[in-house]
Amino acid sequence: MTNNTFVNHPPEVVVPDDNRPLVAPIYQSVKFSFDDPAETLRFLRGERAGFFYSRTSNPTLRQLELTLAQIQGRGDCLLVGSGVATIAATLLALCKQGDHVLAFIESYGPTRYIVQHLLAKYGVTHSLLSIEDLAGIERVLDASPTRLVVFESPTNPVTKIADIEHLTTHARRTGCLTVMDNTFAGFHNHGAYDVDVFLHSLTKYASGHGDVMGGAIIADAALIDRIRKDVVSMGPTLDPHAAFLIQRGMRTYFLRYERECANALAVSRFLHSHARVKRVFYPGLETHPQHALAKRQMKDFGSVVSFEVDGGLEEGNRFAQALRLFSITPSVGSTESLVMPPQLLGGQEFTAAQRAASLIGRGTVRLSIGIEDATDLTADLAQALDAAFVT
Ligand SMILES: Cc1ncc(COP(=O)(O)O)c(C=O)c1O
Repeated sequence: MTNNTFVNHPPEVVVPDDNRPLVAPIYQSVKFSFDDPAETLRFLRGERAGFFYSRTSNPTLRQLELTLAQIQGRGDCLLVGSGVATIAATLLALCKQGDHVLAFIESYGPTRYIVQHLLAKYGVTHSLLSIEDLAGIERVLDASPTRLVVFESPTNPVTKIADIEHLTTHARRTGCLTVMDNTFAGFHNHGAYDVDVFLHSLTKYASGHGDVMGGAIIADAALIDRIRKDVVSMGPTLDPHAAFLIQRGMRTYFLRYERECANALAVSRFLHSHARVKRVFYPGLETHPQHALAKRQMKDFGSVVSFEVDGGLEEGNRFAQALRLFSITPSVGSTESLVMPPQLLGGQEFTAAQRAASLIGRGTVRLSIGIEDATDLTADLAQALDAAFVT
């Protein structure tokens, strides 16, 4: 064998069965082979375990799928390349021409885009309500057969809380599937509710360090099987190295989430007491209009704190620029704190009525609180609020 051939057939290093690595290796391989074509066929027919091609399945991804399914409390999980891919892939897999979908003004921007533009291209109609409009939700579900309702809680950016039991009860009664983007609340929340499909952007709390993207679709095994069939043919696969990094992030998920929640409560209490802050939105604050509902539904309240700064757009932007520990950047759930000033928050396409229902004002600022020391964070917020009002 020449070296040219040899480097394409490197020596195999076999780890003995009784000599396991503590951290699972990254199976950075697109292809897996069986020695016997008959065994390959048996695998393809679903008659034996194994792996063949990583767009369909991969051991590194499977470990993460099993981990996430377990902590969300469902039978199976399907990983994809981003949080947005979970939304597009799930809705495309579950809807067909002529179906009707219920979504919300408070839904994540790309979710609204997928419902209003992408699904619409394939003849799927929709209703767009406020997540707080409980009577409207019942009215829509009763009036037109609805294939699915897609929702979030807490919502982005002003942390409204969906009444999950109300939604799932009326959806179940009318034969409508429930799809919940559970990214903000995390895998350890909402599993006890009768939600059919949970979606997560793994880019946030799961990876936790702002260095990798991914998404998880979690449901019972039969529903995941159905979704997997369509999604594998669309091809939004997660890379094994990304899955490895997210699996590593999950080791500290609970520690990070707990610390971020404690910091978020400290920050929201500080903002609530500040003279230049008109209103604070954090479900863990007793003053949040849906605090009781959040307490009933959630074990903790997340790391996203929004508030309405005195003045408006200019003050909000000056405040964000004056911060030293918070970077002006999208996303949430990182170890470091982040800020989105009013100028960069979504909802620009809303009608006046939709904007009023969204509660996004001219001075709305969204913070994603990290694991830093809470006293450093509040000191930074204090100096930036002072700086925003120096003329
Ligand atoms: C609630 C929610 N869902 C989904 C996503 C999309 O996730 P990704 O950025 O991984 O595509 C985001 C991103 O900000 C989000 O906030």
